[in-house]
Amino acid sequence: MRVLHTLAELRQALAGTRCTFVPTMGNLHEGHLSLARQARTCGAPVVASIFVNRLQFAPHEDFDTYPRTLEHDCTLLDGVGCDIVFAPAERELYPEPQGYKVLPPPELADILEGHFRPGFFTGVCTVVLKLFNAVQPGAAVFGKKDYQQLMVIRRMVAQLALPIEIIAGETRRADDGLALSSRNGYLGNDERAEAVWLSRVLLGLQQQVSAGARDWAALERQAMETLVARGWKPDYVALRRQADLGEPRADAPLVALAAARLGTTRLIDNLELPAPG
Ligand code: PAF
Repeated sequence: MRVLHTLAELRQALAGTRCTFVPTMGNLHEGHLSLARQARTCGAPVVASIFVNRLQFAPHEDFDTYPRTLEHDCTLLDGVGCDIVFAPAERELYPEPQGYKVLPPPELADILEGHFRPGFFTGVCTVVLKLFNAVQPGAAVFGKKDYQQLMVIRRMVAQLALPIEIIAGETRRADDGLALSSRNGYLGNDERAEAVWLSRVLLGLQQQVSAGARDWAALERQAMETLVARGWKPDYVALRRQADLGEPRADAPLVALAAARLGTTRLIDNLELPAPG
């Protein structure tokens, strides 16, 4: 496996090869590795990027403290058969202030995560487009753990007619059900034990919907109240349509999404539900 740091090295190494791409911000866990394994099954060379993208962090967020673990990440990626790691320095990807940015449509990007993290999806789309231009992959794998991000990227690729297949990777979970996330490492022992409740609340929603509950707003409110009663500070618990994250309808497959703060750590999770009927 080669570890490359500059666009010039990357272009030379790829020389037009249509690879399968796994973009990451590093601090890798089993969730990322499963995306890389999925990329491997496509048959093309696998390129992973490791880049902590300042543009998608608000000033009060954890850009400075986000763990940078390049050496360990490379060992892990080597172990799952990755061919190239592209790990540019910030000045390589942003040699000057990034004035040109991708502005995703507000109906998709200013709701849920975008409502609580203004500008987040502009930062994500801008760096992903830039990475796509650098890597020029035939396909790219994004995890369903970041469900809204996956949708925003899919729409960007479709609307900008990028010749890239977007592949969705399933969320990997710890034995107790907690979705794997780089930010789980911020949790203390007691918080780690409590963190499973984010997925439990989503499972509770799934059970209520399959038992016939259809008052979406009441379901969301009760789920938020459960989290608050347990000491969380939820940003949202929402039932939405899988297709476009619009308001739920009984004839459409749904997704339950949640974001909540436990102590100082903000966690997100989601669960796909079949059309309630
Ligand atoms: O999901 C992530 O880790 C990031 O948002 C991504 C896609 C690598 C862009 O920085």
